[in-house]
Amino acid sequence: MEIRIAPSILAADFGRLGAEVEAITAAGCDYVHVDVMDGRFVPNLTIGQPVVAALRRHTTLPLDVHLMIEEPERHLESFAEAGADLICVHVEACRHLHRTLQAIRALGKRPAVSLNPATPIEAVEWVLDEVELVLVMSVNPGFGGQRFIPASLAKLRALRARALARNLDLELEVDGGIGVENTAAVVAAGATVLVSGTGLFGTRNYAETMAKMRAEAAAVPGVT
Ligand code: DX5
Ligand code: ZN
Repeated sequence: MEIRIAPSILAADFGRLGAEVEAITAAGCDYVHVDVMDGRFVPNLTIGQPVVAALRRHTTLPLDVHLMIEEPERHLESFAEAGADLICVHVEACRHLHRTLQAIRALGKRPAVSLNPATPIEAVEWVLDEVELVLVMSVNPGFGGQRFIPASLAKLRALRARALARNLDLELEVDGGIGVENTAAVVAAGATVLVSGTGLFGTRNYAETMAKMRAEAAAVPGVT
């Protein structure tokens, strides 16, 4: 199992976002995690398509676009055009989740689905064949810098078991309160993509922090 690191630019310096994305790219991350918030699905407002398009010019890494917005189906095409590679929608925000995931695939992008902390894994049971990645929120979405919710570990384990039982090659992403200190625990529970905002950008030395996270992950049996 290979582990990927996806810095959440929500914790970057927004005044110099292009340079920050170049810095995490140079430091060796795998994806760039972009948090899109609409002020309705979550209380906060962050960034939209123009910023995604601008970031696209600062890195060749995949843009992992996390849509924390109501009715995301209305914006799939514009985010695809802006340069998103992976488009993640929330199960709680989609009336026709299956159709929405198929629409992402039809745009030539990687479909992904996210679960809030209170949402049971059964909510995605019947779309697991339609996604390449499931994102487990380990905080309530809306803000960076919150504390990791420990029950997320059991949810990761349950999802990993489902993927194994169905022989699905699913990436399992965890988002919220992730840093060097809990990398081993989430990887042992089955996470393969680690989103880190404050835990990474707060440290200033991005390469060193990512190296520490990779070392923690590599110590978990079965991780390459
Ligand atoms: C929360 C966002 C996260 C957040 C993570 O709503 O989806 O991606 O930025 O930030 P940290 O790592 O600071 O919890
Ligand atoms: Zn996120």
